[in-house]
Amino acid sequence: MFLKNRIKTCCLFGLASIMWLSVFSQRKTIDQKVDSVLKLMTLEEKIGQMNQYTGDWAATGPITKDGNKQSQIRKGLIGSMLNIKGVDHTRTLQEVAMQSRLKIPLLFGQDVIHGYRTIFPVPLGEAASWDLAAIELSARIAATEASASGIHWTFAPMVDIARDPRWGRVMEGAGEDPYLGSLIARARVTGFQGKGLGNINSVMACAKHFAAYGAAVGGRDYNSVDMSLRQLYETYLPPFKAAAEAGAATFMNSFNDINGIPATGNKYIQRDILKGQWNFKGFVVSDWGSIGEMIQHGYVKDNYEAALSAANAGSDMDMESRSYINHLAKLVKEGKVKMSVVDDAVRRILRKKFEMGLFDDPYRFCNETREKAEWNNPEHLTVARDIAKKSIVLLKNEKQLLPVSKQTKSVALIGPFVKAVSDHNGFWSYDWPDDTARIVTLWDGVKSKLGTDAKMLYAKGCNINDSNRTGFQQAVDAATAADIVILSVGEARDMSGEAKSRSNLHLPGVQEELIQAVVATGKPVVVLISAGRPLVFNWTADHVPAILYTWWLGTEAGNAIADVLFGDYNPSGKLPITFPRTEGQVPIYYNHYNTGRPARNDSDKLYRSAYIDLSIYPKFPFGYGLSYSKFEYSNLSVSKTSLKGNEPLKVSVTVTNTGSFDGEEVVQLYIRDLVGSVVRPVKELKGFQKLMIKKGESKTVTFTVTTNDLKFYNDALKYDWEAGEFEIMAGTNSTDVLSKKINWAK
Ligand code: NOJ
Repeated sequence: MFLKNRIKTCCLFGLASIMWLSVFSQRKTIDQKVDSVLKLMTLEEKIGQMNQYTGDWAATGPITKDGNKQSQIRKGLIGSMLNIKGVDHTRTLQEVAMQSRLKIPLLFGQDVIHGYRTIFPVPLGEAASWDLAAIELSARIAATEASASGIHWTFAPMVDIARDPRWGRVMEGAGEDPYLGSLIARARVTGFQGKGLGNINSVMACAKHFAAYGAAVGGRDYNSVDMSLRQLYETYLPPFKAAAEAGAATFMNSFNDINGIPATGNKYIQRDILKGQWNFKGFVVSDWGSIGEMIQHGYVKDNYEAALSAANAGSDMDMESRSYINHLAKLVKEGKVKMSVVDDAVRRILRKKFEMGLFDDPYRFCNETREKAEWNNPEHLTVARDIAKKSIVLLKNEKQLLPVSKQTKSVALIGPFVKAVSDHNGFWSYDWPDDTARIVTLWDGVKSKLGTDAKMLYAKGCNINDSNRTGFQQAVDAATAADIVILSVGEARDMSGEAKSRSNLHLPGVQEELIQAVVATGKPVVVLISAGRPLVFNWTADHVPAILYTWWLGTEAGNAIADVLFGDYNPSGKLPITFPRTEGQVPIYYNHYNTGRPARNDSDKLYRSAYIDLSIYPKFPFGYGLSYSKFEYSNLSVSKTSLKGNEPLKVSVTVTNTGSFDGEEVVQLYIRDLVGSVVRPVKELKGFQKLMIKKGESKTVTFTVTTNDLKFYNDALKYDWEAGEFEIMAGTNSTDVLSKKINWAK
C-alpha cells in the first residue's frame, strides 16, 4: 500500500514538476512565476485558491457537512485545508490536488499553538519565563514536528493583548503588555519560520486575531469590542506590527467587530493599516466562518454581500464560510469586486506556496522517516522541560518552606492534578494515541526525585469542578501522616481556551475548601495551581505558606514542577498579566492612566477613583514573581538628568542576591512620561534583562534608553516623542521600583 502510494506520488509529482518546469523554463523571480501561473487560471480556479476547508481530524469550529472535498480539490476549487493529520493523510490529499488541471499544491494549516506532539506550556505560561530565546526555541520545535507531519502553516502566534482574565483565550497570548507582547510575537514568528520559508522544518506563522479580539466586552469570547483608535494603536496593534516586521507570512482576522465594522469586512484594519501602512506582503485568512458571520453581526444581508464586503476589505482566504466559492465569481462578473482584488489575493497566496517550495515538490513535507524521527525526538522533551520550569512563578514562600528537601521522609501528594494527564497539556493540544503515556504526571515527577527512600502518600481529595467532598477525609488523613503536603489544584483542560470564558475566576469546584481542610491539619502545605488564566484564590494566598503558579505546562509538567519543588531549578518566572483580587476589579492592568482623581492608597476613597468595598490593588501585580533567593535593588542611577535631542540615556541599577541560592532575576525598566499632549500611563515597560546572579553577588544592570522608547501615538496618531519630564523606574516587578526623574528636551 505504502509502496503503491509512493509510486503514484512519484508519477503525479513528475507530471506536476514537468508542467511547472516548462512554465518556469527561464530563471524567474517568484513574482514572475506567480504571474505565469495566474495567467493560466480561470476565475473559478482563482477563487478556489481563496477557499479553505477543514478536514475531519480535529473539529476546531462548527463543521459544515457538504459535498465531496476530494472532487472539489480535483476541480481546483480548494486552495488550502486545515485539520488534516500526518504525512499519510496530507499526501493523499496532495495527490488529489495533483490531479487538478493546474496541479497547484494545497497548503495544510493547523493550530499548532504550544507544540504539536511535544506539548509546551500554554503561551501565557511561556510568557511568564520572560525568556525570548526559550520561547523562540519552543516555537522552533513545534514547527519542526508539525512540518515533519505534513503541516505547512500554523495558526499562531496569537498576539492579542488581553487585560481580562475572564476571556478564555487569555491562555493563548502573551498577556497584557504591548512591549513584552511585541517581543514575544517576534520570537514566536521567528521560531515558527526558522531560517525562512522554504526550509524543510519551517512553517508559515499566522499572527492572529487581527485585531483587538482580546478586548471582548465583558471578557466574553467573540463579543464586540469598544475600541478607540488610541487604544487600538497604543495597546492592541503593537504586537501585530512586531509580527509583521518579523516577517509573519500570514495574518488571521478576528471574529469581533471594531466600532461597528466586523474585522473581516474592515477595510481600514486590513487594507489601510496592514497592507498599506505596514506594507504586509503575505495573505490574510479569515477566522473560521467569520466572513459568513457578518450576517449575524447584522452587517450584511447574506453570504453574497458577505463575500463582497470581505474581499473588498482585504480578506484573502475564506476559512470555512463558503462565501467566496459560492458568490465571488458572480460578484466579479457583476463588477462589484474587481478582478484586480481577486488577483491580488491569489498572488499573495501563490507567493507563499512558491516560497514554501511546494511548486518544486508538493510532497516535500510528506516524509514518513522524518515524521517518525521528529515524533520521537528526545531532545524536544528536554527543551519542553526546560521552558516548563522557566514558566513557573513562585507567588509566595514564607519561612523558606520551598525548596523541599530530597531527604524528606514522607510527602502527601493531594489534589486532582497529582495524577492528572491531559489537563497538564491544556487547551490546543491534540490527543495522540500514546499521549497519555508520554505526559509526566506530578506523581511521577516527584517520584523520580525522591526514589524509594521516601514515603509518598496520595489522595485526590476532590474533582476539579464539582461539589463532591467525600474525598476530603482521605486527603486529611494523608496530610496528617506526612511531613509535608504538596497540594495540586487548578482548571481542567477545557476551562480556558476558545469559547471558554468564565464569569467566575475562583478555583473551580470545592478545591479551595479542600485546601482549607488540609491546611487545618497544621502540616506545612505547598499549593500548586495549574490553569490557563489568572485565577482568584484569596484564602489560599493569605493562609498557605508556599504557592507556585504552574499554568498548564505540557508533556513535561511533572518533571518541571519537581525540578522547582526540590530546588534543582530556582524559580525565575514573572507574571505577564495582573492577578486580580476578585472579578469585580477586572479589567485591571498595570499600565493604566492616572485619572484626575487617583487614590493614593486604599484608605483614600472619598471622591477618589476607588471601590468603597474593595482594594484598588491587584493580588499579584504584573511582573511579579519570587525566587528561592532574595534580590535587593539599589543605586538606581542615570547618566544625565537633563538630555537634549537624540542622545541616549544610560540607566543603571545594582541588584544583589542576598539569599542563599544562585538564581535568575528579571530586572524590569519602566518609564512614565509625566505630562503629554495626550495622557500617558502611570508606567510602561520599556526594557528587561533576565540574568543569573550568584548568592552573595551584586550585578549592575545597564539599560540604554533612546527617544524611540519615549514615543507614543499623539493626538494626531503620529508616533513621536515629546520633550518634558520623565520618571525612570527599575525594579523586580511593576509595583516595587526605584525611581528617578529626568528632563529630556527636543
Ligand atoms: C477559530 C479560532 O478563533 C482560530 O484561532 C483558529 O485558528 C481557527 N478556529 C481554526 O481552528
